[in-house]
Amino acid sequence: MDIPRKDFFDVIGSRRSVRYFKPQPVEPEKVETVLQAARIASHMGNANAVQAIVFTDKETKEKLKPVVSPFNIPIVDMAAVIIVWFIERDAWYNEIADHLAHLYKLGAVNPSHGWSLDFIENAAKPRLTSFPTEAVDFMLSCESGMAMAQAQLTAVALGLGVCSFAGIGPKISEIFNLPDHCRFVWGMALGYAAEDALTGGQRPRKPFESIYSKDTYGNPMHSDPQVVETLQQINMIQGQVSSLTPERLEEINAVSRASGLPERTD
Ligand SMILES: Cc1cc2nc3c(=O)[nH]c(=O)nc-3n(C[C@H](O)[C@H](O)[C@H](O)COP(=O)(O)O)c2cc1C
Repeated sequence: MDIPRKDFFDVIGSRRSVRYFKPQPVEPEKVETVLQAARIASHMGNANAVQAIVFTDKETKEKLKPVVSPFNIPIVDMAAVIIVWFIERDAWYNEIADHLAHLYKLGAVNPSHGWSLDFIENAAKPRLTSFPTEAVDFMLSCESGMAMAQAQLTAVALGLGVCSFAGIGPKISEIFNLPDHCRFVWGMALGYAAEDALTGGQRPRKPFESIYSKDTYGNPMHSDPQVVETLQQINMIQGQVSSLTPERLEEINAVSRASGLPERTD
């Protein structure tokens, strides 16, 4: 297999959800790079509905801590930068036709595929903007996932640790004064990792054939051992461990101690 950009695969393979961070601040240019990566992710109909609020101050962290899931409080505490991702539904309802028309004028979508300005204005626009808000939120959460994935991989490429974190949407919206047409999606912690993301190995995922089907649902698609071997060589597929190793336990307890968090004793 010809792989012109090998580094990229190492970035994918080396990403872990990092949950311990150093107090070290993140350079503003790195924060911007992460955000730029999300901005240029693929967007549905080019709706550009993904937005974020970025902050680093302790005061805002204190406001956020009571409304995130309890297991995320140490993450919010430690991470140098917090990104609050949300979707702006009006971008869909009010702007999608303009964005599509722009794509048409640029030659990104073309008559070869059935696109025309008339189709956009008189067929696509009425259809897309008739979707109920629940359907739009569902679709835009995919759009935000794409943006967040690009942000995460960019963070890894910049030598940063990153972890998504959940919280109570309506309360988070209140803290950040999000208008009704905006909806909180997920939080993201960013900073220099205090744990070695690679120590515990790549986190387990379901086997390839149990999640991918060929031709029809339930007919397992099989992975090619040679492909897997190549992906291992370029670090995209990395070693997994089947249980907590003494090295990882030592590391968890060392970073927990250093951060004033309880150690693992089970
Ligand atoms: C949308 C999304 C939300 C997540 N929310 C949380 C969270 O609230 N807290 C947390 O510690 N990890 C969260 N994670 C991280 C997952 O738990 C993580 O993917 C899992 O630990 C697998 O490990 P890995 O990301 O290191 O490969 C989230 C991941 C995703 C994709």
